[in-house]
Amino acid sequence: MIKRDKVVYQIYPKSFKDSNGDGLGDIRGMIEKLDYLQDLGVDYIWSTPFFVSPQNDNGYDVADYYNIDSRYGTMEDVEELISEAKKRNIGLMFDMVFNHTSTEHEWFKKALAGDEKYQNYYIFKDGTPDKVPTNWASKFGGSAWEYIPHLKKWYLHLFDKTQADLNWDNPEVRDELKKVILFWKEKGVVGYRFDVVNLISKPATFEDDDIGDGRRFYTDGPNVHEYLKELVKDTGMEDMMTVGEMSSTSLENCVRYSNPDEGELAMVFNFHHLKVDYKNGDKWTLQAPDYKQLKNLFKTWQLGIQEGNGLNAMFLCNHDQPRAISRFGNDTKYWKESAEMLATLIHMMQGIPYIYQGEELGMTNHGYTTIEQYRDVESLNYYKILMERGMTSDEALHVLNERSRDNGRTPMQWNSDTYAGFSTVEPWIPLPENYKTINAESEFHDETSIYNYYKKLIQIRKNHRAISYGSISFIDNEDDEVIVYVRECEEERIVVIVNLVEDKKELILHENLDLASKIISNYDSNEVNGNILSLKPYECLVIKTR
Ligand code: GLC
Repeated sequence: MIKRDKVVYQIYPKSFKDSNGDGLGDIRGMIEKLDYLQDLGVDYIWSTPFFVSPQNDNGYDVADYYNIDSRYGTMEDVEELISEAKKRNIGLMFDMVFNHTSTEHEWFKKALAGDEKYQNYYIFKDGTPDKVPTNWASKFGGSAWEYIPHLKKWYLHLFDKTQADLNWDNPEVRDELKKVILFWKEKGVVGYRFDVVNLISKPATFEDDDIGDGRRFYTDGPNVHEYLKELVKDTGMEDMMTVGEMSSTSLENCVRYSNPDEGELAMVFNFHHLKVDYKNGDKWTLQAPDYKQLKNLFKTWQLGIQEGNGLNAMFLCNHDQPRAISRFGNDTKYWKESAEMLATLIHMMQGIPYIYQGEELGMTNHGYTTIEQYRDVESLNYYKILMERGMTSDEALHVLNERSRDNGRTPMQWNSDTYAGFSTVEPWIPLPENYKTINAESEFHDETSIYNYYKKLIQIRKNHRAISYGSISFIDNEDDEVIVYVRECEEERIVVIVNLVEDKKELILHENLDLASKIISNYDSNEVNGNILSLKPYECLVIKTR
């Protein structure tokens, strides 16, 4: 079983550290920064893919699972990364993109050349160009099908058209993927993050979706649990640090994916809490965060996946999300307070916390003003789609500003030098202007910085069994914008109080809180008068009550 006092740090290599002056982050850059990660105190690094790839989706379009894209480095560099990390007690988790391959993968190329064996590696359907097999939509916009005239066939791509979906019903495909796992395990990789892994099992027959974009047919699909069990068993991954990215999933399925008795994965990412600012579930229609929904979702998922029946991966940021501080906090006036509140909120819950590069510094959204600054395939597609839907260019840019994945992909802000110490030349994607003030160098030695607050949170998890292993319960209160929960084990009991918003709040306490037993807070002083706790903007407070 995975130890519960661990913390994972996610690296998006392209934007982490450029070691060779080409404007792109690379593996040697990751090696250079291992001491920084050791100081922070993380136990694992999950790196997003650096395998050979045309980079249409920044490496989530893999053309060769066994080799390193030369833009990122060499196999020797990766081996050194694994061994240098190990010396610092940090384990490496690789990102396995197994729902699809790049259309540049040799399997797909053979399929295109007419080889039936390899056509059966993917999801091809006979047809004519005028009749698409189903009306399903690609997650990046447009149809999920692409026609190949010389084969007179369509192929399925739930993402970009250069990302062809694999046919997991074919045992040969499953065997190929097991070999990939074993290859990297042999090299010393201790865990895997599985990309959109709940989409791998497609239905036996393909039909139009009259009420949606098709996802109800393939999300948590018919054989997904069986395929995961087989993959885990045949590669001996039972005790490894595995996490599945579950797109539009359900709680019931996530319990199965992560229940130790099922032999599937160690833990799951779900995204429901990161849709509370989508109007009617549509990412591209803006709405202010619905805190009532956010609070309910945390409660539902924390209570629904409890120690013993499963495990949540806890996160607010990753390479597909805008920065949480810009989204749920105030990234100027209450920059520090809101960054620390958000961190406390998830780090003190049950599950394994994930920190996304730069989150520990309070890095913000990019603030781009022109479409030329964007790089992400999804953002560029949706810029066009939003204008086709009737928006002006300015309106579409405003939506991208809030929602684009590029918000989370700007270069890591290491110091205040030109290009933020990320590179010596202009980076592949523009930097936010605030790197002069928000950067690792300035925070490292400042005891009161967001960075040092994260360090403390990581240590609290290690030093307090109630936080790593304890049960969780929620204390109901009237206010939708204040969350109160209790973590408890035999030795201790800890209360966590979080004001999610900028408004001041008054919380009626049902027990005595002794501020002398405070473990951490984002304010130096907290105010209790009788049974009333007065909460300042974004205030959070963690107190030991036993
Ligand atoms: C996952 C990845 C994302 C990628 C998509 C397709 O959601 O996190 O970056 O674009 O899968 O592979």
